Amino acid sequence: MLKIKNVSKIYRKGQQIIKAIDHVTLDIPQGDFVALTGPSGSGKSSLLLMLGGMLSPTEGEVWIEGESLYDLNADQRARVRQKKIGFVFQTFNLIPYLSAMQNVQVPLLLVGLDEEAQQKRAQALLERVGLGDRLDHKPAELSVGQQQRVALARMLANDPSVILADEPTGNLDPDMSAHVMQFLTELNQEGRTIVLVTHDRQVAQQAKRMLTIEQVHSLA
Ligand SMILES: Nc1ncnc2c1ncn2[C@@H]1O[C@H](COP(=O)(O)OP(=O)(O)O)[C@@H](O)[C@H]1O
Ligand SMILES: [Mg+2]
Repeated sequence: MLKIKNVSKIYRKGQQIIKAIDHVTLDIPQGDFVALTGPSGSGKSSLLLMLGGMLSPTEGEVWIEGESLYDLNADQRARVRQKKIGFVFQTFNLIPYLSAMQNVQVPLLLVGLDEEAQQKRAQALLERVGLGDRLDHKPAELSVGQQQRVALARMLANDPSVILADEPTGNLDPDMSAHVMQFLTELNQEGRTIVLVTHDRQVAQQAKRMLTIEQVHSLA
């Protein structure tokens, strides 16, 4: 269960004050598949980062499976994030000088798995996304769709119960986009909770429900 309780996020940049999120409350039960839509600048990415323990709210609380994320210290929060949350981005954020396999190994290394176990698991995950024959390729040696599949394999490394996806189909053509949505649907059917940010209606309709942020907040 994910809970956002009365959360606001204000960014301060020089003289500018931007209210990205204004008192949002949201319950996302275990096993839900939510598509979060809204205009550019409405705070979707900020909300997702706060859900993932990567951005502290200015006000309010974020709960994941009975723990208030931002009442934990940074180490505890990092541990919750590593154990429970898988993140996938529009731009994949793969490490360019590492192979597909090594990219997937990174989160496994971070939780202290030994090298052999890392490699076994990374290979199995890359096989699951259909990249069993691309283990040693670096991101630049892969197509865009294949890069996204490496990112999906990496996201699954620690078997997360919660998947947060920020425009994961934003850089993909319709075929690859359908493939990613099919994969996310499968992961949801395995019982994982999914929050998917997208501006694509067709993509959003494949979720179980859609939430829309209507307003773009901004304080001069
Ligand atoms: N690190 C930051 N510093 C200052 N302003 C930011 C930062 N990140 C986002 N913003 C601003 O906050 C608002 C919401 O951004 P974002 O969460 O990225 O929205 P969305 O993902 O819906 O496009 C935007 O006006 C954006 O310019
Ligand atoms: Mg965004």
